[in-house]
Amino acid sequence: KMRIAVLISGKGSNLQALIDQADQAQYEIGLVLSNRPHAEGLQKAKKAGIPTAILDHAQFDSREAFDTAMIQIIDSHKIEAVILAGFMRILTPIFTDHFLGRMLNIHPSLLPKYPGLNTHQRALEAHDKEHGLSIHFVTSELDGGPVILQAKIAITQDDTIDSLQKKVQVQEHIAYPLVTNWLASGDLMFKNNQVWYKNTPLTTPIQL
Ligand code: GAR
Repeated sequence: KMRIAVLISGKGSNLQALIDQADQAQYEIGLVLSNRPHAEGLQKAKKAGIPTAILDHAQFDSREAFDTAMIQIIDSHKIEAVILAGFMRILTPIFTDHFLGRMLNIHPSLLPKYPGLNTHQRALEAHDKEHGLSIHFVTSELDGGPVILQAKIAITQDDTIDSLQKKVQVQEHIAYPLVTNWLASGDLMFKNNQVWYKNTPLTTPIQL
């Protein structure tokens, strides 16, 4: 199995989905790393018997120093791929270059729409008819790496930030273990700044 690290900052519901699918998948979670000491997801990891690490970004002088420390911890656990699951820190090229082609992120919007924060609010305010999530390879560009898969949801009259978040997360918990397993099984690759799925370059993202 491919050894992965899951990086979190909060609740860890995507981490839980990855844990729940691990037995049937080609990945094993060798480390859960949080930048927040009280992230709820740390308890989920402990319950599953997964090693955890806390690296509080506030204890570092610079993003570069923080990223360098993260690389050391992750590499010391013999990790092959990094899965960002609600990890809410901007990463420097030190980190993104180190894990280029072997790091995924899940983002709650239909990229390239709404990189950054408050995606549900922004979709509502724009009166979008659809919304969703994107899973992409991480490059040095924030939420800008090539998209692998998207899942769409319809926005209705009475949707709120909360209802959209819930709908998107239902899809996230299906999509992220699936795509992580593609990476672990070798079906998914990153070559020449492009996504390759089963040895064919993707021209548009896969739809869940
Ligand atoms: C997820 O919805 C994920 O898409 C989002 O944070 C949430 C984490 O939830 N990620 C980002 O906004 C990244 N910029 P979780 O902790 O329950 O998995």
